[in-house]
Amino acid sequence: MHEPAEKNGLRTAWGRVADAYGEMWAGRTAHITDAALGALAPEAGAEAVDVACGPGSTTVALADRLRGGHALGVDFAPEMVARAQERFGGRTDVAFAVDDAERLVLAPESVDVLTCSFGLMYCYDAAAALHCAARTLRPGGRMMQVVWGRAADVWWVPVIELIETRAQYFSAVCPMMFFYGLPGVMPRMVDEAGLDLIEHATLATEMAFPAVDDAVEAAIQGAPLAGLFNHRLDADSQAEVREAMRVHVDAIARPAAEGIRLPAQAAVTVAGRPACRA
Ligand SMILES: C[S@@+](CC[C@H](N)C(=O)[O-])C[C@H]1O[C@@H](n2cnc3c(N)ncnc32)[C@H](O)[C@@H]1O
Repeated sequence: MHEPAEKNGLRTAWGRVADAYGEMWAGRTAHITDAALGALAPEAGAEAVDVACGPGSTTVALADRLRGGHALGVDFAPEMVARAQERFGGRTDVAFAVDDAERLVLAPESVDVLTCSFGLMYCYDAAAALHCAARTLRPGGRMMQVVWGRAADVWWVPVIELIETRAQYFSAVCPMMFFYGLPGVMPRMVDEAGLDLIEHATLATEMAFPAVDDAVEAAIQGAPLAGLFNHRLDADSQAEVREAMRVHVDAIARPAAEGIRLPAQAAVTVAGRPACRA
């Protein structure tokens, strides 16, 4: 099947940061996913799939709520799946596999719950991903999506332009990063996928880091722009990006017991597949 060349690049970029994302980033957004899982309220014993699972922590957070159920984490980057298996392969209530959100191989009507935390923005065809999700859910099943909210309220945003302008390589990673969090977009898209909207909320939150430099390194090395930063920028440009991010983070950081807190906004959507169609 035809895929845009950029999608392969994105898969490679995520694969390269599987360890760094797991270590520097995933834990910092876990509370957002957890709040969304609270809104989803999956039933005990449910069978679930966590799409774009990354290094597996969101799949495990989901499995922890299923008590007696099972969660399959899938990601299109084999390195992410390997990392998740390494970390959580010992658990019997989770499993991991390579799969693409835009064309899931799972059988139609095979799961009760489908989650996707910070994954939809990376799909080249998000509408297809939502249709796949709807098709994979059993009647009465529930889907949860978490996407970034308004760009102006997300602390790490400047890193995109800082790296891309110096690398002279634009929008390769995620041109639609902040589209799905715009007011009305997810409600319309879930409706178009044939799902009923159950809850849609904007979550104003924060991400905690021990210090400014940890946040700066997470923004640069814990995400897929790391490849551009490490391989396309010379030492002077890298230093400029680090310094500009340091100044930005320092200006907006809120001191906290654990170090600093930085603003973030996410949009949480819960939708259901109708139990039966008229
Ligand atoms: C920001 S991470 C989110 C990981 C995890 N859900 C979390 O919240 O920590 C985005 C993940 O989406 C995956 N991804 C991007 N496009 C995908 C696609 N089309 N199908 C499956 N996974 C995809 C990436 O490989 C990456 O692991």
